[in-house]
Amino acid sequence: MTKRVAFIAGNWKLNLDHQQGIALVQKLAWTLKDAGHDYAGAEVTVFPGFTSLRSIQTLIDADKLDITLGAQDISAFDSGAYTGEVSGLALKKLDVKYALIGHSERRQYHNETDAVVQAKVSASFRHGIVPVICVGETLEELEAEGAAAVPVRQTLAALADHSALGDFVIAYEPVWAIGTGQVATPEQAASVATKIRTAIREAFGDEVADKTRILYGGSVKAANVAGFLRSPEVDGVLVGGASLDAEEFSGIARFQKHLAI
Ligand code: 13P
Repeated sequence: MTKRVAFIAGNWKLNLDHQQGIALVQKLAWTLKDAGHDYAGAEVTVFPGFTSLRSIQTLIDADKLDITLGAQDISAFDSGAYTGEVSGLALKKLDVKYALIGHSERRQYHNETDAVVQAKVSASFRHGIVPVICVGETLEELEAEGAAAVPVRQTLAALADHSALGDFVIAYEPVWAIGTGQVATPEQAASVATKIRTAIREAFGDEVADKTRILYGGSVKAANVAGFLRSPEVDGVLVGGASLDAEEFSGIARFQKHLAI
């Protein structure tokens, strides 16, 4: 079976200008280096805002950092009269490896439907960028349908265009746990991850299900990360607030240290 490398992702959201972003990545890289971080065991990816991508790419390139780069969104379109959109073509040129798609904040504030998410996933595949597809239920949906129904439905909808399936990552982020400090239990996260993987297995077969990384996100901190990653079903974390602090985020990336305790 394919070994899934842990994925530690920092979503900066609408925070930090490019200078602050450079300072954060420099500090993160030093902290991880000092701690002897093994990137082959846990990949570390930052998702800055669009205006910081070029600066961070240059830093990663010049200092030969092992940190990888992601974008917070990608246009469904490649070029043309789509004011304000950012194309996968341009992102690929900045060595962007991953794109967040369908984050609950985009679904909520920008009316991103499953169809839009699916079109963006297709654009990602077209440009060789790995989509990090965000799924998760609101508190009302949790009460009405239980935890797994919405995330499973959103996962399958995002991947509805089977013809061009590339590698992808799923990030399970219960909406009620984002930025609220109200964290899901490791058991809840593992249970939903298992159900998402089962749905992927049924739709796309064993190979895809075994290699796909499924993350948990929502109020993750250095102090609670180990609980989530103890389950073999959870392959990493998508971190918001705590990714803006280099020490805290490197503590999350170094989750294996906590596992040993
Ligand atoms: P917080 O870690 O701030 O709860 O944000 C989670 C998130 O939305 C990451 O994409």
